[in-house]
Amino acid sequence: MMPIINNPWNGSVMRAIVHDQHGEARRVLRLSEQPSPPAPAAGQVRVRVLSRPVHPGDLAGVEGFPGAPRGRFATPRIPGLEGMGVVETVGEGVRDLRPGQRVAFFPVPAAWSELLTAPSGLVVPVPEGVSDETAALMLVNPITLLTLLRAVEDAQHGQAGPVVQTAAGSSVGKLVCAAALEHGTPLVNLVRSATGAQTLRRRFPGLPTISTADTGWRTQVRDATGGRGARVVLDAVGGSLTGELAGLLDDGGTLITYGQLGSGSTPLESLALTPRALTVRGVSIEQWMARTPEERAEDVAFAARLASTAPELFEAAAGYDLADFAKAVDHARRPGRSGTVLLTSPAS
Ligand SMILES: NC(=O)c1ccc[n+]([C@@H]2O[C@H](COP(=O)([O-])OP(=O)(O)OC[C@H]3O[C@@H](n4cnc5c(N)ncnc54)[C@H](OP(=O)(O)O)[C@@H]3O)[C@@H](O)[C@H]2O)c1
Repeated sequence: MMPIINNPWNGSVMRAIVHDQHGEARRVLRLSEQPSPPAPAAGQVRVRVLSRPVHPGDLAGVEGFPGAPRGRFATPRIPGLEGMGVVETVGEGVRDLRPGQRVAFFPVPAAWSELLTAPSGLVVPVPEGVSDETAALMLVNPITLLTLLRAVEDAQHGQAGPVVQTAAGSSVGKLVCAAALEHGTPLVNLVRSATGAQTLRRRFPGLPTISTADTGWRTQVRDATGGRGARVVLDAVGGSLTGELAGLLDDGGTLITYGQLGSGSTPLESLALTPRALTVRGVSIEQWMARTPEERAEDVAFAARLASTAPELFEAAAGYDLADFAKAVDHARRPGRSGTVLLTSPAS
């Protein structure tokens, strides 16, 4: 057995999904037996993981991010950074977590395994009444939302204006919709199909939703943004759509890119950045760890409150046992899916 968990082996094994090389997830992922992590060291906890999401970013990490820092996704590796489970044992000095407690964690590598050891500071109790499914999705998407809202605020320079978002029917997109309604932000949603537009309009009737499959979508966006264009575009699609999105911005506007669901490319020269004083900015949840522990604790408290008060914003599409990871990957890739696919494993 080739151990991927870098810990002295205590003789017991667990199941984990691993990949030995980057490539199409269905092809390179495999179920394996790995040495279980040993008893936690001081300040650590050992968690039996019950449920973890298959995020688009997890699949991109398996495929290999273009331009990812060297070693960041070195193989062999076990994917996953988020999940929920039950504390098995706590290391010396851990006061705020106890065995048997339900917890969520992020960012903890190797979440697609049955057991993991994590620094206690990255593990948070699940509020009472929050289901396991919701808890498995409790941290990444709300923290992404907060990261995006901060980037939008920076880009507005105190002059609020219309915001356009792509992939608006995604789990993150729906959180952005709910936040826009709460804060009175003039948000225009873009989705890629008429069916997706219909579904999102039913869910958020107060927000204009436009399908890029309509020939007149650019004019519809211009009308919905008051004729001048958007102050900010929040984009998770990228690729060949980037040029079109830059064209939707008002002069001085900002394109915030935070995902790459699309394909193709757009030459930088075609964006007219200089004459129109446009800004293009990348935003990633990876920058979240640079916030102070107090700031991160506030963000986690926001996520936990949201999970308690608005569980409908943490929709799970389906759950598959780790052994059925191929079905889970297929489901996660299915167009028109609503909610996030979970990989599950038993409590013992
Ligand atoms: N930067 C960060 O730190 C960070 C953190 C979290 C998430 N993200 C990114 O945020 C995005 C949304 O994540 P999520 O988990 O919320 O997604 P999700 O729930 O899995 O939903 C994906 C959505 O994207 C749409 N979509 C897929 N391919 C598309 C394409 N080529 N063109 C237009 N729309 C497309 C789908 O539309 P259909 O309904 O039509 O299938 C679906 O609504 C992803 O790009 C993810 O990588 C980034």
